[in-house]
Amino acid sequence: MSILTVKGLHKKFGGLHAVNDVSFSVEKGTIHAVIGPNGAGKTTVFNCITGTYQATAGSVEFKDKVISGSKPHQIASMGIIRTFQNLKLALNMSVLENVMIGRHIRSKAGFLAGMLNVPWSWKEEKLIEKKALEVLDSFAMADKANTQAGSLPFGKLRTLELARALAAEPELLLLDEPASGLNTHESEELAKQIVAIRDRGVTILLVEHDMSLVMDISDMLLVLNFGKTITAGPPREVQLNQEVINIYLGEAYA
Ligand SMILES: Nc1ncnc2c1ncn2[C@@H]1O[C@H](COP(=O)(O)OP(=O)(O)O)[C@@H](O)[C@H]1O
Ligand SMILES: [Mg+2]
Repeated sequence: MSILTVKGLHKKFGGLHAVNDVSFSVEKGTIHAVIGPNGAGKTTVFNCITGTYQATAGSVEFKDKVISGSKPHQIASMGIIRTFQNLKLALNMSVLENVMIGRHIRSKAGFLAGMLNVPWSWKEEKLIEKKALEVLDSFAMADKANTQAGSLPFGKLRTLELARALAAEPELLLLDEPASGLNTHESEELAKQIVAIRDRGVTILLVEHDMSLVMDISDMLLVLNFGKTITAGPPREVQLNQEVINIYLGEAYA
């Protein structure tokens, strides 16, 4: 069953055709990766799915409902949660507070009420804190709950961004270059974490340059270049595609 269907997506920035007629669908419960050189349009596809950008043309359907045209917070509340290529954490806040922000995205009181600390939401706040701690614990970071986020090493900040996204209880999780800046060991840990998240029933759309990570854990790949689809298929097939080797993979996976 497809959870996300992108049809004929276009995004133009003035004269630049950043996404040019991209169509794909993501099967529920899978890890689906989007790869390609810098500037290929990967992040722009994410931005069109999450409502950050309005597509110039085309449509996005989530669970058979058209979501293109909806606002980012509406799309998040439907269960599509993302992380960012450049981390968007509140570095002056504690680790726990950062995760709680994620949780607020889908809580009943809503993000604003939570942030303004409206008294009637106190009980809910306690529940959110409990859930946030559970998420931190699942990443072996519960002992860092009261640490200021900004004092964490970079690898832990990436984990924190992932924990915050999970606290929102996504059905579809979009990860934009989650291994960027990580060392080999950290990337391997991340791969395990992503697979564990998928195994808990969360569908994952992944943009990533670390090809060993992508090829190891992805069920399907979509390859973009200059906004256009080069090919799509399972990793074993895509690795053998001569055009993909030429424009992106080099000989490493030939
Ligand atoms: N807000 C924007 N305004 C103008 N051009 C943009 C904007 N966002 C992305 N682009 C351009 O669109 C193209 C695709 O960018 P992007 O989606 O970030 O690529 P990728 O994530 O694959 O590296 C690039 O040429 C980039 O410069
Ligand atoms: Mg990008």
